[in-house]
Amino acid sequence: MWTPKLLMMNGELVPFADARLHPLSLAVTYATTVFEGVRAYHVEKTGQFALFRLDEHMRRLQVGMKLLRMDRSYDTQYMLESLTKLIRANEPDSDVYVRLLVYVEGTGLMATTGPVGFTAAAMPREKPKFAETGMSLGVSSWHRLDDNASPPRIKSTANYHNARLAALQAKSDGYDGALMLTAGGKVSESPIACFFMVRDGQLITPSKSSGILESITRDTIITRYRELTGKQVEERVIDRSELYFADEAFLCGTGQEIIPVVKIDRFAVGDGAVGPLTRKLSQDYFDLVRGINAEHSEWRTLI
Ligand SMILES: Cc1ncc(COP(=O)(O)O)c(C=O)c1O
Repeated sequence: MWTPKLLMMNGELVPFADARLHPLSLAVTYATTVFEGVRAYHVEKTGQFALFRLDEHMRRLQVGMKLLRMDRSYDTQYMLESLTKLIRANEPDSDVYVRLLVYVEGTGLMATTGPVGFTAAAMPREKPKFAETGMSLGVSSWHRLDDNASPPRIKSTANYHNARLAALQAKSDGYDGALMLTAGGKVSESPIACFFMVRDGQLITPSKSSGILESITRDTIITRYRELTGKQVEERVIDRSELYFADEAFLCGTGQEIIPVVKIDRFAVGDGAVGPLTRKLSQDYFDLVRGINAEHSEWRTLI
């Protein structure tokens, strides 16, 4: 497995261990940071790397910068050139996970909006731990943050304080992960991924107004489900008790990819094994991101 050598700070490549940010920067004191996790999949046939849905990641990042009223923004072409340089400089020989952070690196009072900086780091990423076996989730007593308090639909670092409380609670309660509800008690998402469940042959996911991050993987699944089955995913409010009717369930996200959920609140989901639709969508996802399935070439930026 390759190891990261260099990361990029404000357009310059610097040794991975030498990255520096002032502790009094707004990024540290007020979590004034928006970020993305982007995957570049190794395409074995050609030796290239396919950045998956970079345009959509950049769009979400740009809205985040706007909402946080940062002094400057970064366009997609600039980031693509930076990521290309970064990935090549690290000479990876397998899949790459890129963490891209944009933040206020200046110090000052709360309403300080600049100077703005960015860091991009390329790292190897092993297959997530529960990808094959599935994971157990516990419904958290920490509720998901609210759109009018700290909007979950942008990927701001500050939002992960809420997510982390739920993740820590799940761990100490003996679950593999948490499932969060909105303040109104409806199903939202997990601390690091979106939630899907199958009930009576129908794929269902919490609506975009259920306190979720507007996930790019969620959109990929919704699109592919429609293309593969001719049916629409039901995007709607899900009551907590409906979770216990699920025949299958899974989490999805760029980092997590697709992780089956086999238990919720210690109840088996369906028969407690990874379900057939989960397997089918998962296989389809991996074929797409690597270009083994040539459809949706607009989702893969080759470098
Ligand atoms: C809270 C949360 N929800 C959902 C996701 C999935 O988003 P995406 O598919 O865009 O990676 C992530 C991962 O980034 C996340 O942190």
